[in-house]
Amino acid sequence: MKKLQNKHIVLAITGGIAAYKSADLVRRLQDAGASVRVVMTEAATGFVTPLTFQALAGQPVLVDENTSAANGMTHIELARWADLVLVAPATADFIARLIHGRADDLVAALCLATSAPVAVAPAMNQQMWENPATQANIRLLDQRGIHRFGPAQGSQACGETGFGRMLEPLDLVEQCTTLFDTGLLQGVSVLITAGPTQEPIDPVRVITNLSSGKMGYAVAQAALDAGASVTLVSGPTCLTPPQRAKVIPVQTAQQMYDAVHEKLDNTDIFIGVAAVSDYRVAQPADAKIKKDADELSLVLVKNPDILASVAASDPRPFCVGFAAETDHLEGYAREKLEQKRLDMIAANMVGNGQGIGADDNALLLLTPRSKVELTRAAKSQLARQFIEHVAKHYLEQKNPA
Ligand code: PMT
Repeated sequence: MKKLQNKHIVLAITGGIAAYKSADLVRRLQDAGASVRVVMTEAATGFVTPLTFQALAGQPVLVDENTSAANGMTHIELARWADLVLVAPATADFIARLIHGRADDLVAALCLATSAPVAVAPAMNQQMWENPATQANIRLLDQRGIHRFGPAQGSQACGETGFGRMLEPLDLVEQCTTLFDTGLLQGVSVLITAGPTQEPIDPVRVITNLSSGKMGYAVAQAALDAGASVTLVSGPTCLTPPQRAKVIPVQTAQQMYDAVHEKLDNTDIFIGVAAVSDYRVAQPADAKIKKDADELSLVLVKNPDILASVAASDPRPFCVGFAAETDHLEGYAREKLEQKRLDMIAANMVGNGQGIGADDNALLLLTPRSKVELTRAAKSQLARQFIEHVAKHYLEQKNPA
């Protein structure tokens, strides 16, 4: 079956030079099996004519409510028809309007009115992309669960070089396919750890880290979307867990270890996304520690390594770890892959606003025999690509050729 078979995609085109690539995108989406309807802003029609898209899509192109009504589909009907609204190219101006919930043209109104996922493919001059106002808007997009594809880095129509190029049509099609249920992990049970752990110092103080749980929760959602049954053992976070996941809340590394081992018997794939405290306080105080002393020493003892213990169990599930590094990303991650005897490790850079606590991330996936880079994207999107790779390697191991 084609990757986007029977999917209804509204391709919304806003006014940037990258609009010329969207003509090819229509064809590529159709080749992947999608039905495509094209909507354009007035500004976009200055770059490519609606007639071009009408000829390619084989459907009338809608520019405003008048053309929309004349062609028998109001923005509400179109919003309901869509399985995905893809805005490509999405200009800086359009992204700002989207963030503010404007409905001042058909494309913006459609994005407000649809319950389907909305994805944007930003395309703009590199200075406009780097501008703090655009970056703030992009962070809001990511937080609101609007999918973002790109932008890519490279030379631009304006003669400058940097981030801001729209992704190529084939890459955009690939990204669209990651948004739909794949069924890749149908009938497979996946156990995931997420978030930080907290190690008590006294009844009101803890040792913890900056993990928000966003990556682990996104991985849980992606596994559910791939048809898996998911158990999520989560340290303390402020997030709403994915519906359909069985959630086991824990606080400490030892509790996480116990919860994981209790569930291990029925697990096909284990994914350790949690940032587990490597150490805990040997003797947490029973009462709040007073600030009488000028110096205070805490004796720390090592916590069990949950991931390594799962990988050493017999029989063992397919084991995937994460490696959070501030330097030597690949080298350190490969050491962990080998030392903990994992099937796969996902390495990410952390610190200075990267990876941990952030809404987006980039991953380097390593197995004993392969290496794949997943470029920076919203965690929800990245998690879908990650799960596709996990599923591929898991199935290959289970059913060797
Ligand atoms: O939660 P977010 O804000 O979204 O951030 C996501 C993340 C950066 C925390 C995540 O992507 C990530 O990298 N998680 C692993 C963090 C980590 O603890 O890395 P590590 O290199 O110290 O540990 C390696 C692996 O061993 C991890 O899979 C970890 O879960 C596991 N581990 C570590 C120590 C321990 N005692 N038990 C473990 O299971």
